[in-house]
Amino acid sequence: MAFNHKHLIDITEYSADDIMAILETAVKFKEVNERRIKQVPTLKGFTVVNMFNEPSTRTRSSFEMAEKRLSAASLNFGGSSTSSVKGESLVDTVETLCSYKIDMIVVRDKHAGVPHKIADVSGVSVIDAGDGKHQHPTQAMLDLYTMRKNFGHLDGLKVAIVGDLSHSRVCGSLVPALKTVGADVTLVGPPTFQVDDPDYFGVPQTADFDSVIPEMDVVYMLRVQLERMEGASIPSRREYNRLWGLDMARVNKMRPEAIICHPGPMNRGMEINADVADCARSRILTQVNAGVLTRMAEMYLLLGGENNGISA
Ligand code: CP
Repeated sequence: MAFNHKHLIDITEYSADDIMAILETAVKFKEVNERRIKQVPTLKGFTVVNMFNEPSTRTRSSFEMAEKRLSAASLNFGGSSTSSVKGESLVDTVETLCSYKIDMIVVRDKHAGVPHKIADVSGVSVIDAGDGKHQHPTQAMLDLYTMRKNFGHLDGLKVAIVGDLSHSRVCGSLVPALKTVGADVTLVGPPTFQVDDPDYFGVPQTADFDSVIPEMDVVYMLRVQLERMEGASIPSRREYNRLWGLDMARVNKMRPEAIICHPGPMNRGMEINADVADCARSRILTQVNAGVLTRMAEMYLLLGGENNGISA
C-alpha cells in the first residue's frame, strides 16, 4: 500500500487505504509494545518536537512514549514556559525550532489552523495533536484501531457519537474518518450542541439518545467541552446526565456485543457515569493504549517508512 503523506492535519485528505496503512502498521508495532525491551531503532537519528500549547495528558504522553519506543530524539516544548508569553510570534518560534534541523513537529493549540500554518512555514512533517474546535486526527486513528480490534472490521459498523458535537475536535476528525472506512454514523446531542451544517458528511443528527442506543455497535461519548462554551447555554450537570448521559439503565439497552468509547478526559457523572466508564463494555483504556501504537505508526509512515530506508 503506497502512503504518500507528509502531514497528518486534515483527516479528510486521507483515503481508506491511507487509514488502513496506519492501522496495519500499528498492529505491527503492538508486538514491540509487548516485549520486555519495548524499543526499536526505527527512528534513531530523527528529531521530533512536541509543541503542546494547551493542556494534555493522553495525547502528549503517548506521543512521547511512541517517540521513545521508536528511538527518536524528542524535544518537549510549549505553553507558558516559552517566549510566546513575551510576544514572540508563532512563525519566529517555529523558525527557531527548525534551525535545529528537526524532522517533525507535533502540535496542540487552542487556535484552529495552527498546524496548517506551521506546515506552511516549517518545511517539516506536522501532526495535528488537536487544534481548537477543528480536528484531532490522531484521536480518530486510535478510535478506529480500537473499534477494528474489537469487531475485526470497520465497514458497516453502527456508531453513535453522543454529546457536545459542535465544540468537539474529536467529532471533527472521527466523523469523516468513520465515513471514509464505511461505518454508519449517527450524531446524538442536545439541539444547542448539534453541528450547524444539516448536511454534515451526510450524517443524521438527533436529540433522542434512547431511540438510538439499541441499534448501535459503538456508543462513543464526547466530553462536554466546558472550556469552549463561550457563553452558550448549558444544561445543569444533572439535567445533561438525565437526557444525554450514559448510565447503566441505558447501557442495559445496548446490543449484547456493543462497546463504549470516550476520548478522555471524562466528566464522570455528566456525560458518562463512573460505573459505566469502568464496566466490561468500556474500551476507554484500550483507546489510550492504542494511542501509543497508532502514533508510532503515524510518525513512522509520515517520516518515510520503508521509502526512507527505515523498517517497522
Ligand atoms: N483525548 C485527548 O486528547 O486527551 P488529552 O487532552 O488528555 O490529550
